[in-house]
Amino acid sequence: MNPKQIVGEKASEYVQNGMKVGLGTGSTAYFMVMKLGERVRNEGLDIIGIPTSRATEELAQEQGIKLATFEEVQDLDLTIDGADEFNPDLQLIKGGGGALLREKLVASISRKLIVITDARKQVNVLGKFPLPIEVVRFGWEITFERLKALRLNPILRMEGEEAFITDNSNYILDCHVGEIHDPASLHEELKSMLGVVETGLFIDMASEVIMADNEGNVQIFSK
Ligand code: A5P
Repeated sequence: MNPKQIVGEKASEYVQNGMKVGLGTGSTAYFMVMKLGERVRNEGLDIIGIPTSRATEELAQEQGIKLATFEEVQDLDLTIDGADEFNPDLQLIKGGGGALLREKLVASISRKLIVITDARKQVNVLGKFPLPIEVVRFGWEITFERLKALRLNPILRMEGEEAFITDNSNYILDCHVGEIHDPASLHEELKSMLGVVETGLFIDMASEVIMADNEGNVQIFSK
């Protein structure tokens, strides 16, 4: 079975009646949302979801999962989401799908962030995966040059011929940083840069990573 499906379905078992759940984005989170939808329909699982992207919002609605807004719900029992990389301290790079800002906001109001990945995402040192940075479109060229001056090798994310635009109407600069030995400091440095909205570094947010390999072996890493 596809490792993404294995971990997506496994993580859905953490969800119980009455829970408020952050619904992640991406091809792994897809399987978790599908399974939760199945449980809602077949078992009458009663949950409220907060989606981390427009794509997940649509999928969850199609699946019959009740959704709430931040006006109604401001704390969550758990969020289940994918990642692009995780290290032994469970620090993450996220944002490969461009949803990092909403994902981080939703994770920040969750008691637990459960990360679901296949084994290719496990690294000793973060940074093989280009670090996504969400930036405002106004003057993005200036932010780009500043990141370049820091030797972070930014590239404007494209979608076909056009620049990729996030759900929050911003751009993404994918930074080919190389090994990130101090993710917390890099995150702080980037956050203080004018024009940067958010970085894909998720520091001390994940409580657990559920990982599966191609043979279907599942490993759980917790903090
Ligand atoms: C979305 O912006 C990302 O943070 C995803 O959670 C991450 O890219 C993992 O995606 P896949 O599950 O599709 O690999």
